[in-house]
Amino acid sequence: MDGSGIPVRQGMPLPFSSVRGTAGRRLCVQRRPPPWAAPAAAASNTWRAQVIRFCRAPGSRRINGMTTPYWPLAGLRLATPRLELRWPTPADLDALASLAAGGVHDPGVQPFANAWTEASPADRAQSTLQYHWQQWGAWKPADWSLNLVVVRDGEVVASQGMRGRDYAVLREVGTGSWVGRDHHGQGIGTEMRAAVLHLAFEGIGARYATSAAFEDNAASLAVSRKLGYADDGIERYFVSGRPVVSRRLRLDRAAWEAHRVTPVQISGLDACQSYFGYTQ
Ligand SMILES: CC(C)(COP(=O)(O)OP(=O)(O)OC[C@H]1O[C@@H](n2cnc3c(N)ncnc32)[C@H](O)[C@@H]1OP(=O)(O)O)[C@@H](O)C(=O)NCCC(=O)NCCS
Repeated sequence: MDGSGIPVRQGMPLPFSSVRGTAGRRLCVQRRPPPWAAPAAAASNTWRAQVIRFCRAPGSRRINGMTTPYWPLAGLRLATPRLELRWPTPADLDALASLAAGGVHDPGVQPFANAWTEASPADRAQSTLQYHWQQWGAWKPADWSLNLVVVRDGEVVASQGMRGRDYAVLREVGTGSWVGRDHHGQGIGTEMRAAVLHLAFEGIGARYATSAAFEDNAASLAVSRKLGYADDGIERYFVSGRPVVSRRLRLDRAAWEAHRVTPVQISGLDACQSYFGYTQ
């Protein structure tokens, strides 16, 4: 189903284009007769009715506002008790950009090695959009970066990323995240990290997950500690004109299992597994 509620079936050429109908509802509109349609059926039904039946056929899945059935990642969903993590629709991305413009952390701290949050609100919003578009276009099974929006009660409140390089062999993911400043300190950062860890270990068979945070980033380090990560050394960065120490953290499967407390449901993963370079 796309963002408008019309289900779309995967794996077959679509006989229609998608346009806006009344009240913003997206309609499937005939472009040419579908090759599988029998002439008798065509005589007794409008093409539009057939297309809608086709769209609602068993095996349909959500496409989440994308117009193509060839990007199953758009149908991936992680659900926790309070949150939904999903591939962003264009509207979700707008909301995320506005969230970034509104502030990601207190002025005076800089938690990112690439100090993108020091830009003006408008530039933060724009770079948020461009970052996502860039990562979408660059996706490869050998080098991917999954950037999900985090939605609570219908509102985009955070961004949760997970990255894999040579994942087929290494079975290791790295995570990165931020929560809109007005939503800090409510357990969202912990719950959304738990969600992608579940995707990594339970969904695509990870052996390790890594994270890193500057040594003054108490909240991020606390999230990692609660979820079972162990210290894994340091790195030093040049940030805003000064040296900064980053603490690397590593979580293995046994520690993940010992610390998991958040129930997480994954949907839409089957069609995506090869995109992560994952084979069982
Ligand atoms: C790091 C971040 C994602 C954490 O998200 P969050 O929703 O605020 O975190 P939670 O509410 O789940 O809190 C996690 C833990 O951090 C602790 N914590 C939060 N702020 C803290 C602070 N300033 N000092 C010490 N501990 C703090 C909380 O008490 C909680 O631990 P507890 O449950 O044992 O009490 C969020 O603060 C953020 O987006 N910060 C700015 C961007 C950032 O730093 N990103 C990560 C870069 S590595």
